[in-house]
Amino acid sequence: MSTIVNDIEVIKANHTKIHDIDFNNLKFGHVFSDHMLECDYKDGKWHTPKVVPYAPISLDPSAKIFHYGQSIFEGMKAYKDEDDNILLFRPLDNFKRLNISAKRLAIPELPEAFFMDGLKTLLKVDSDWIPKKEGSSLYIRPFIFATGKGFHASPADEYKFIISTAPSGAYFAGKVKVLIEEKYSRSANGGVGFAKAGGNYAGQFYPTQLAVKKGYQQVIWTDDNTHEYIEEAGAMNIFVRINDTLITGPTSDRILDGITRKSIIELAKTEGIPVEVRKITVSEVVEAAKNGTLKEMFGAGTAAVISPIAGFGYKNEDFDLPELENTFASSLKKRITDIQTNKAEDPFGWRYKV
Ligand code: PLP
Ligand code: COI
Repeated sequence: MSTIVNDIEVIKANHTKIHDIDFNNLKFGHVFSDHMLECDYKDGKWHTPKVVPYAPISLDPSAKIFHYGQSIFEGMKAYKDEDDNILLFRPLDNFKRLNISAKRLAIPELPEAFFMDGLKTLLKVDSDWIPKKEGSSLYIRPFIFATGKGFHASPADEYKFIISTAPSGAYFAGKVKVLIEEKYSRSANGGVGFAKAGGNYAGQFYPTQLAVKKGYQQVIWTDDNTHEYIEEAGAMNIFVRINDTLITGPTSDRILDGITRKSIIELAKTEGIPVEVRKITVSEVVEAAKNGTLKEMFGAGTAAVISPIAGFGYKNEDFDLPELENTFASSLKKRITDIQTNKAEDPFGWRYKV
């Protein structure tokens, strides 16, 4: 049976999987809600999206996504407050970034109304899937990929935009140890590092597997030219605290302009924490770890939220970070999650009620 919600057609699933899900023990991105948003680009335009039952999709083997990797995505979260309001965090920033990625990958840009109305309708239909437990949320994955056929290495003429959602717990299971990379690169000047392109992640998997074998969870990427500057981690932007100053690298062609990162910079400033956005050398971080002035390192991202880094490896040496009682990471994490979940005032206008 189909209904219309916010001008979007909704075709409901015959059966809900929700009773099979243990909402008290959620992993990250492992189980998927009953519905998804689906929207097709053909004949030179995006067609009105529909909410449909979550299900596998069928593609032609020559679809260009398989051969030339035209694929981009976003990561967002929905929360519920005490009064069951559905809340998002800076969703228009994700929409804008999706189109920045689209442009770079020669994918046609998506109209804002299809993204926002489609997302809001999907969240209303699957509202029961939004966890209320602290530390859990409904992870939202909007993505676009090339469905158009043909082996010619050129942009496809057809695409699909999907939003699927997954009730999720923490991204990292325990303490995070990172390896500062000295050989491989994630991105390069003039490349696609600033885009959320699927291939950026595929390219990280092999070096990250090598790091995991050595006991680290993530790689911290350094600049491709000299490997002397800290850039970002595989799934999050990086902050370091030297003495009482919080430092993060500037965004560039090579680094994702993280929404959590820019929110943390603003929040830290309002907390009176000195913040520097500047290039960070690996040698200053190693030096600070050696002389005890490196107080904290943490990653910031939608999935990662704020993930404190317990230690890092560099050139066969391991460095542990101190275990402080009051960290910038914990106070900033509380501030951002309280805003996201409507436990605190939002002077920035970041919270978005669906
Ligand atoms: N850097 C990379 C490579 C990411 O995949 C992410 C996650 O989205 C981030 C940084 C953090 O970005 P945001 O805070 O917008 O989620
Ligand atoms: C996110 O934080 O939303 C991301 O997209 C990172 C991803 C690798 C899980």
